[in-house]
Amino acid sequence: MASLLDRFARVAPYFRDGRSGIVAAAAAALVGAVTEPMIPALMQPLLDRGFSGRGLPLWSIPLAIIALFAVRGSAGFVAQYTLAWAANRGVLELRRAMFDHLMRAAPALFGRQSASNLTNTLVYEVQQGATLLVSALLTLAKDSLTLLALLAYLMWLNWKLTLFVAVLFPAVAFVMRTLGKRLHKLTLAGQDATDELAYVVEENVLAWRIVRLHDAAPAQARRFAVSSALLRRLMQKSTVAGATMTPVTQLLSAIALSAVITVALWQSGSGGATVGSFVAFITAMLMLVGPIKHLSDVMAPVTRGLASIERGVALIEQSPAESGCGFAVERVRGDIELRHVTLRYREGEEAAAVLDFSLSVRAGETVALVGPSGAGKSSLVHLLPRFLDPSAGEVRLDGVPLPEWDIRALRRQFAFVSQDVVLFNDSIAGNVALGAEIDRERVTAALRAAHLLDFVATLPQGMDSAIGHNGSELSGGQRQRLAIARAIYKDAPVLILDEATSALDSESERAVQSALDVLMQGRTTLVIAHRLSTIEHADRVVAMDGGRVVEQGTHAELLARGGLYARLHAMQFRS
Ligand SMILES: Nc1ncnc2c1ncn2[C@@H]1O[C@H](COP(=O)(O)OP(=O)(O)OP(=O)(O)O)[C@@H](O)[C@H]1O
Ligand SMILES: [Mg+2]
Repeated sequence: MASLLDRFARVAPYFRDGRSGIVAAAAAALVGAVTEPMIPALMQPLLDRGFSGRGLPLWSIPLAIIALFAVRGSAGFVAQYTLAWAANRGVLELRRAMFDHLMRAAPALFGRQSASNLTNTLVYEVQQGATLLVSALLTLAKDSLTLLALLAYLMWLNWKLTLFVAVLFPAVAFVMRTLGKRLHKLTLAGQDATDELAYVVEENVLAWRIVRLHDAAPAQARRFAVSSALLRRLMQKSTVAGATMTPVTQLLSAIALSAVITVALWQSGSGGATVGSFVAFITAMLMLVGPIKHLSDVMAPVTRGLASIERGVALIEQSPAESGCGFAVERVRGDIELRHVTLRYREGEEAAAVLDFSLSVRAGETVALVGPSGAGKSSLVHLLPRFLDPSAGEVRLDGVPLPEWDIRALRRQFAFVSQDVVLFNDSIAGNVALGAEIDRERVTAALRAAHLLDFVATLPQGMDSAIGHNGSELSGGQRQRLAIARAIYKDAPVLILDEATSALDSESERAVQSALDVLMQGRTTLVIAHRLSTIEHADRVVAMDGGRVVEQGTHAELLARGGLYARLHAMQFRS
């Protein structure tokens, strides 16, 4: 099966470190296989000479049996152990590679694949696949070698009879192949259906409040039922394909067996064969059934296991890594220039989140972006650290186009407080220093500036207190201030604040705002705010709508002009 070999070749590089284990397993399987024909071989002297009392010491046969099983058992253990060792190393390697890739993958991946989908592949599937594959490969090695050894022994005993058996092999192979292909297809469909199911569960676990508030449970349950029904159907079909193999191959072996017994009985009539050799032959024949049965069952776990591992490999090979070039500096001045930038989230779509947008921001300047919801403000600032790449136009930092930057050096230049705060299940200090060494004095200073120190002081473990899953033990405003402390701690030359103080009450907003004003000194700052009172001191205000610049100027100039900004302002301050 060439395609199966190709598929093995594809995953093999990750299992290279385990080569010695695979070789040892193969050797052990060979030893185990050689012992198999010795069991029927013992029958012959036992029957022909043992019972007729002709010169066999009493202890010899029992001792031989015990020794034989001891060797066989040890070989089995060694084969299983070494193969599992090799597979677990492979899984380790593959998982590490997948996680590395996840850290570097182009952002498009996260739009295409859900979190549960990626988690499932990375955490569960490769492990499951490797476990399945190990046991299947072990069967394959042990049983095919056993089969060969038994067949060789049979040939040696009586080659004519053995040829009867051999005739049936192509038939068995055909059955295995046809059903194997179908199983593979069903397995792939089953994996997709499992992902879909996990996705529904994930969404509903995350959104349980809103689901209950809107009484959306019945609709969600229907959605779940559709997915589970599909999965059930696929599982059933794959069971049918798997379960057909066993009886069909067994029937073929039964036909072989009956033919052989008939011929053997007929041959014994014409003299020559002893009872011993006949029994040895039949025993070896019967011992063939086990391995044949196992081998016919082996395709299901091989294809399923391989498909799981391949999904992991595909994650690495088929989603491109982030691109970047070599330009790097420790700290930029902070000149930002956007030239005719257009951003479409989907190729070829008419609607653009940002449309022919040009803006240049001098180093140290504070520019405020305002505009109605959906105007494209967040999309625009996501272009700067290359969370998104423009569909047309160019963005430059310090005069260097972003694609020419080394991607890590580029991101060092930005501190970003985003609209949706993301926190890690770590201590407060760990979240503030995120990615950098924890310098407790600087963490304290950052917390103080973000007006979080008083709160942190009330916690039993201070800044070492854990904050729960995505900061679930904090209030919305505390989460936001923690994100601001993180930006302060990073001390990057360019600061991006996307609704950074929206969750704060007016009093703490004013306090945090003054801390941010200090932070903005000497840094290029892009600030997005719906509450216009927070941006009155910006050097320049850019009002945007529908992805375009509508007007720009100072707060006073735009108010005087009486356009979009003045309208937004009037609405907020009417009271
Ligand atoms: N991941 C995405 N995929 C597709 N379209 C998106 C995506 N994110 C945003 N958009 C679209 O891009 C447009 C601009 O969105 P953006 O988030 O930039 O607006 P915004 O100005 O930040 O709005 P708000 O003030 O509400 O935060 C919207 O029409 C939105 O539907
Ligand atoms: Mg936004």
